[in-house]
Amino acid sequence: DGTLTVLGLETSCDETAAAVVRGRPGARGAVLSNWVHGQAELHGAFGGVVPEIAARAHAERADTAIARALAGAGLGAADLDAVAVTAGPGLIGGVISGVMAAEGFSRGAGLPLVAVNHLEGHALTPRLTDAVAFPYLLLLVSGGHCQLLAVQGLGRYRRLGGTIDDAPGEAFDKVAKLLGLGFPGGPEVERWAAKGDPARFAFPRPLLDRPGCDMSFSGLKTAVARAVMRLAEAQGGLWRRDIADLCAGFQAAAAEILAAKTARAVAAMGARPSALAVAGGVAANSELRAGLERVAAEAGLALVAPPLKLCTDNGAMIAWAGIERLAAGLADAPARPRPRWPLD
Ligand code: KG4
Ligand code: ZN
Repeated sequence: DGTLTVLGLETSCDETAAAVVRGRPGARGAVLSNWVHGQAELHGAFGGVVPEIAARAHAERADTAIARALAGAGLGAADLDAVAVTAGPGLIGGVISGVMAAEGFSRGAGLPLVAVNHLEGHALTPRLTDAVAFPYLLLLVSGGHCQLLAVQGLGRYRRLGGTIDDAPGEAFDKVAKLLGLGFPGGPEVERWAAKGDPARFAFPRPLLDRPGCDMSFSGLKTAVARAVMRLAEAQGGLWRRDIADLCAGFQAAAAEILAAKTARAVAAMGARPSALAVAGGVAANSELRAGLERVAAEAGLALVAPPLKLCTDNGAMIAWAGIERLAAGLADAPARPRPRWPLD
């Protein structure tokens, strides 16, 4: 009946991840295993991902990830139809580690290898989890990405807008670093924001008054840095109250920018989307989710937010993109690692 079983490998940022997914386009897929080995403990001291450290860790762990994904699914290589691997965009050292491991495994097992664009993996996740029909609107927000995409069909993506500088997750991470909070910063900032007053600091909403769907977060981050400096000068340091209020003010501004631009993208889509979907690590943020719920409700659309394990980087989204590409006969791109690979 066209059902395919694919192993997906993802190594483009700081998670070494492999998963086995079974399914066919048009119906929900079954995630048979989803192994993720994060590297937060390797990069935490640096407050951000260090590419050389990431590449070495991926090279060391990729084979284990593949073995764990197969064992978790209770399958062997002979049960697979193909291997899918992230070929970009991302940190090139990590991408190369993953492509080499996937190539070795697929050759040894005599399986076809499908090169997958990491962003396409995120973009198609709502079809894996909820069988969302084309076209739909996707807000992709992570530590490295921020874009509003009209997902019109497989391989047919129109970028309606996105950040012109930092990605929102990056801004969350930088604000956390500034305030001496842990890494990754998003969950820390959200935890502190829950105890804070979002109205105490009037942080800017850059580009909000401009037409179009582009966004900017670097001025917002700088405004937080300036407020921290002023407080340090005035009182010699930050009180817990200050940290909570700074986090609340920053989070409110970031969520408002994202929600407002998403509302605009609904109008800019042209065709009526079947749903509003969100993906990427920042989709975990509950204030952002609440803002998007409002946008979706006003437009009469359902908000599709995949479970967190499938929103952040994972192998299942790569396996699913492989399934969609194989089923459509679009799986013949060479697995050439590339640091940049725009979807449109
Ligand atoms: O998608 P992801 O796991 O990795 C990529 O960047 O591709 O996203 C990680 C980002 C980090 O910047 C992290 O701080 C952010 O997602 N993040 C959050 C939250 N949880 C994770 N940002 C805001 N609120 C959260 N609850
Ligand atoms: Zn990602």
